[in-house]
Amino acid sequence: MNLHIAVLSGDGIGPEVTHQAIKILTAVAEKYQHNFTFEDALVGAVAIDETGNPLPEKTLDLCLDADAVLFGAIGDPKYDNNPSAKVRPEQGLLALRKALGLYANIRPVKAYDTLLEKSPLKEEIIRNTDVVIYRELTGGIYFGKKTLSEDGTSASDLCEYSKEEIERVAHLAFKAAQGRNNKLTLVDKANVLETSRLWRKVVTAMASHYPAVELDFLFVDNAAMQMVLNPSQFDVILTENMFGDIISDEASVIGGSIGLLASASIGNKYALFEPIHGSYPQATGKGIANPIASILSAAMLLDHFGLADEAETVRNAVERAIDLEICTPDLNANGGYSTENVGTFIEEFIADIGALHINSGNIKVGQSTII
Ligand code: IPM
Ligand code: MN
Repeated sequence: MNLHIAVLSGDGIGPEVTHQAIKILTAVAEKYQHNFTFEDALVGAVAIDETGNPLPEKTLDLCLDADAVLFGAIGDPKYDNNPSAKVRPEQGLLALRKALGLYANIRPVKAYDTLLEKSPLKEEIIRNTDVVIYRELTGGIYFGKKTLSEDGTSASDLCEYSKEEIERVAHLAFKAAQGRNNKLTLVDKANVLETSRLWRKVVTAMASHYPAVELDFLFVDNAAMQMVLNPSQFDVILTENMFGDIISDEASVIGGSIGLLASASIGNKYALFEPIHGSYPQATGKGIANPIASILSAAMLLDHFGLADEAETVRNAVERAIDLEICTPDLNANGGYSTENVGTFIEEFIADIGALHINSGNIKVGQSTII
């Protein structure tokens, strides 16, 4: 398969982790005889610094022409701490989601058996958690009308949803549930918000098209509690933009590190793949950022194009790295493995080289011959 991939590695650790994901995709292309080409473009704070615009036209044009977008991270403290900044790096990502029509953000969260002890949550609570969050991504309070009074003392953000916006992402979530454990939980705040009542009505009306799927509902405050009390009860979660943003960060603690969580953002025509973590400015350039979320996002890219064996190969290689504790300091504080080391192990494992050189005894003490 030929794929032309736009690479928007962005800010902070974005370029380091994205570099590893490209290595992995290149290894996959070689192994399975695909032709993947990559083209870089600016986004976020680096784009503001160079062009004044967090999503330069050239970048958007590249994304519109590419088969997929591989995204790194966005954000810079110099904007976070300045509430009156007129341009912000995040606007680049939001504008890109809107321009590409990426209405569904898919975030899988899984408790790996070998990492149970890394989570601050108790092992017996998180064991067997395997949930996918379907977050609506181009509507709601993120994109509603915003106002700030002239004297700067009052502000508003409008939350709006239409039936069509709800249906298109809900169809994807119902289908995902069908392919998994047939359970779909709609997370909303229908006891307070009109938009949430519309979500319930629309999603309930759709349920008859998916008779095998058991649909239930949770208020977002309760869902936030359930996520840390009993996360293995969930199969597929469907929710609106803002609730999905919050619930998915919360869910990331289950995996033991936010550096493991991948995501796909898809629309009818375009697709973008990005780790859910941010730009982690404190870690930039230190070689300590976990590349696994970016690599697993690349696996989701492969899945999106129907390359299921290839995606599985990447996931197996990642699981092997995790099993052998070939992980960055967030997961293995004393292992001495850098971002590059972890990427190279996974790359070589995919290319089958790893199997020849691995000496598990050495690997435990960080002396593998291949890294
Ligand atoms: C995410 C991020 C973004 C969001 C920011 C960077 C705008 O937190 O992808 O979850 O809020 O959607
Ligand atoms: Mn977020």
